[in-house]
Amino acid sequence: MTVNLVIGAQWGDEGKGKVVDYFSKDADYVVRFQGGNNAGHTIKVGDEIYKLHVTPSGVIQGKTGVIGNGVVLDPEILINEINNLKKRGIKPKILISDRTNIIMPYHKILDGADEKYLGDKKIGTTKRGIGPCYSDKVARKGIRAIDLTDKNTLSKKLDEIIPIKQRILDVYNIDKKLDKKEILDAYIRYGEKLKDFVTTTHIELNNAIKNNKNILLEGAQGVMLDVDYGTYPYTTSSHVIAGGSSIGTGIGPKNINDIIGIVKAYTTRVGEGPLPTELFDKTGEYLQQKGHEFGTTTSRPRRCGWLDLVVVKHSCMISGITKLAITKLDVLDNLETVKICTKYELRGKEIDYFPANIEDVKKCKPVYKEFKGWNKINGNSTKFADLPKEAQEYLKFIEKELKTPIAIISIGPRRKETIEV
Ligand code: IMP
Repeated sequence: MTVNLVIGAQWGDEGKGKVVDYFSKDADYVVRFQGGNNAGHTIKVGDEIYKLHVTPSGVIQGKTGVIGNGVVLDPEILINEINNLKKRGIKPKILISDRTNIIMPYHKILDGADEKYLGDKKIGTTKRGIGPCYSDKVARKGIRAIDLTDKNTLSKKLDEIIPIKQRILDVYNIDKKLDKKEILDAYIRYGEKLKDFVTTTHIELNNAIKNNKNILLEGAQGVMLDVDYGTYPYTTSSHVIAGGSSIGTGIGPKNINDIIGIVKAYTTRVGEGPLPTELFDKTGEYLQQKGHEFGTTTSRPRRCGWLDLVVVKHSCMISGITKLAITKLDVLDNLETVKICTKYELRGKEIDYFPANIEDVKKCKPVYKEFKGWNKINGNSTKFADLPKEAQEYLKFIEKELKTPIAIISIGPRRKETIEV
């Protein structure tokens, strides 16, 4: 029995889809535990490209995909993804926790309304209703997956919630009338389509552990978007860190074996908020173009910069990362020099931790170590020793600084472009 966890160690978009796909080989279950369809995982199998937002990516390999209680689920998106996979010959096996909170139409409207209200202080959310849905969950006003299977309960809950949401929309000056009947009918229809998947996933997963099955917990976003340990308030609204996987699945923390932190060989971020190593020059543009750094979910260009080890060290500590997966190393090919940020300078002093005060983060100046660049990495490389000497030096430095071993290195989007260390 193994329960492994894969999480992003930066601001998301580290290439989790490929790494999860890679680690799914031996898994019986692949489980999402936080976030919703704000995530976007791209998996390339041969010439086929799959883009999934809420379906656990392991279903492409025929694994059972579990949507844990910590996820916020837009049922319409899930139904579309299931239908699209079916059209491509994949009949996904899916289980949804009966406790999973459901993204409702008013969540999506309120997400956009709040961003508009914030103006130039906006978070830059994906406008998928993620924040408002999590807010309702902790305010105990959430609609849960189980409610979609019971018209009476759902109707009563909507009777309580909709008048309040309507008043909030009025405060935001949003001219939209929430129609209870329309919402109730639509969500009961989704419930009918999904009811066979809705179950006690926490029991299923704990039984699976007892029965020696393998489970892979699939994180979305990255530690720096965690609602507590990220660049708050420029974060998402869920617990992205390793601890979130226990909360979001009902699997006790002692059952987790390896915690694999995915680290892109450089840094990217979508949305607003500080990014200490951001590059505003030609190198930044080079990374963006070469790395195809445009969001899977919103198509927004990602901001790019050098690798920031203050960030990754913070992630390794908070999440107890046991192994690293370095992705997109090939994007750094053909650069004369490459840099790694090891510390920040804040008010004339060097610091090696990530400050909580967002105004301080904005003032942090990266302190860099420079490395000699390398020529093109051979896509057929299968061993660490096949990599250019300079790339090896770059990786060894990361390993030494983080005191965490590198387990895999991704040198291209295809499954075979992966080196096991
Ligand atoms: P939300 O999750 O839609 O509320 O957005 C909050 C912040 O998290 C924004 O800066 C988004 O761009 C960012 N974000 C959310 N999901 C992802 C993701 O999967 N990858 C990268 N950034 C994300």
